[in-house]
Amino acid sequence: MKSKSPSAEEGRLKIEWAKKHMPVLGRIRKQFEAELPLKGHTIGMALHVEAKTAVLVETLAAGGAEVAITGCNPLSTQDDVALALRQKDIPCYAKHGCNTGEYYRAIDAVLDNKPDITIDDGADLIFRLHADRKELLPDIIGACEETTTGVHRLKAMQADGALKFPVIAVNDAKTKFLFDNRYGTGQSTWDGIIRTTNLLVAGKNVVVAGYGWCGKGVAMRADGHGANVIITEVDPIRALEAKMDGYRVMPMIQAAKIGDFFITTTGNRDAIIKEHFELMKDGAILANAGHFNVEIDISQLSKMAKSVRRVRANIEEYDLDGKRLYVLGGGRLVNLAAGDGHPAEVMDMSFANQALCVRYIVEHGRGLQNKVYGVPKEIDELVALLKLESMEIQIDQMSAEQREYMSGWKHGT
Ligand code: ADE
Repeated sequence: MKSKSPSAEEGRLKIEWAKKHMPVLGRIRKQFEAELPLKGHTIGMALHVEAKTAVLVETLAAGGAEVAITGCNPLSTQDDVALALRQKDIPCYAKHGCNTGEYYRAIDAVLDNKPDITIDDGADLIFRLHADRKELLPDIIGACEETTTGVHRLKAMQADGALKFPVIAVNDAKTKFLFDNRYGTGQSTWDGIIRTTNLLVAGKNVVVAGYGWCGKGVAMRADGHGANVIITEVDPIRALEAKMDGYRVMPMIQAAKIGDFFITTTGNRDAIIKEHFELMKDGAILANAGHFNVEIDISQLSKMAKSVRRVRANIEEYDLDGKRLYVLGGGRLVNLAAGDGHPAEVMDMSFANQALCVRYIVEHGRGLQNKVYGVPKEIDELVALLKLESMEIQIDQMSAEQREYMSGWKHGT
């Protein structure tokens, strides 16, 4: 059956649906419309082009900014959403399934709009600016970065003295990583795996590589589905956390023999390599939930395979002489390559931080150094308060006595 070609109308409906479930960003949009704090600025973005991202784009445009966007992963773009953005005159250069050349040409096209603020998810746009488009660097006031991997990369740039403008690590807001990385990745990774495979998780051995916030979320939701969860780690403290959270902890070389599902969330390369493929059971399913497609060594797996065939949408079967391994979404972020990304309610907080940090860069960016900054506490707390308000949840306030007690040091036994 021929697949339906994408339509701007479908994309618009997806955006409307997401918008309905992003009340914090909605509040910020109203304020932006009234105050136009971003007027006169151009924002260049490389993010996953799907419905929630489009809500952010439209919020920034409502604040008076010119916005140009492309994708940050060749498989996460939803072409109908890209069409809907173009229909609203937002330059959007993203295309699902683009090759590496096309991917960087699209990044260049965003930069051709001469942004003075950038937003990245993974730091490819910032890297391109520093490596190949240096002539644009003096115009950049500052940037925002969405994800752990991007922040890691930017901190390495800072340590090398290579970073040429200030960046706000939006990922490091508590209202981002505690929710998006944990509950967002936890739910959307399983959404991608389950809708793609249509298989049962209960009773299976699920191996999660990495026990950072994403790994914690993926493990927690695997547990909720009734899986036997196994964690692999290189960090002794995280390994202990995993053990005391009730999971089995072992090296990948042992886990490889018993896993039914393998999910990588390390942010590092080579979490699953040749020696692991060799030990895996027939039928094992492999998925990556880390930003880049470097965690599962797919090129090695291809070399080992006698044949590779697509057995379902987003599932490739690698035949290793009778034993078959299945890779989801080409080893790219399974929640976006084989799903719709995180739930809207979670992206509401992540993108509220983005919008407010962009405003912060407009108002304070020229006074910042060429460093990676955390999200200002006032922004993080405001996002939490607005989210609680949108959920109609009230919380207690400290009394004057409690405030005094907490700020003093003389009250003891
Ligand atoms: N949707 C937009 N950006 C996303 C991200 N970084 N992770 C998951 N879903 C997303």
